[in-house]
Amino acid sequence: MTVPTRIYLTGFMGSGKSTLGPRLADRLGYDFVDLDRDIERAVGGTVQAIFANRGEEAFRRLETERLRAVSHADRMVIALGGGAVTREDNLHFTKAQGRLIYLRMTPRHLADRLEKRAASRPMLHEEGRPLSGASLRKRIAALLAQRESFYEQADIVLDVGKRSLESAVSMAMEALENKSGT
Ligand code: S3P
Repeated sequence: MTVPTRIYLTGFMGSGKSTLGPRLADRLGYDFVDLDRDIERAVGGTVQAIFANRGEEAFRRLETERLRAVSHADRMVIALGGGAVTREDNLHFTKAQGRLIYLRMTPRHLADRLEKRAASRPMLHEEGRPLSGASLRKRIAALLAQRESFYEQADIVLDVGKRSLESAVSMAMEALENKSGT
């Protein structure tokens, strides 16, 4: 079976795209690209600073631009930011350029994982401060509800919630090998 040459990982913030991505790339002998880090390098500033200084729309434009730029290369696993495929054109682009995998996790599990990590995520801030507790859970549930219909259009959906990293990587490998493509 042929594994596609570009594997895109999508899913909500905190779902493990940047952790699973490098391990999956290792198993495949592919390179790993984290799109947020690529954007930061291209701009010379953090995602947080881009949101604060230029706003979300500007960040989305950069994200769309860099997604296209990194996708020229082959044999790559690319971790997308959690909002990237909520633009229809990005969703279709990733599916046309390779395979899109959705790392699915329950809102409850996401909330547990994001409680200590909301600070670096502007989408989980209010009035410049990271949300926590009930307000964080509410924001996660609302954003996930808006985004789920995009995520669910991925080529492969993996429930990663209770799995160890190694088992999630194996599950991804198996799903990729069972889906032929370029
Ligand atoms: C975002 C997710 C972040 C980052 C930015 C916006 C989102 O990436 O791209 O803060 O809209 O979900 P992670 O999913 O890697 O946290």
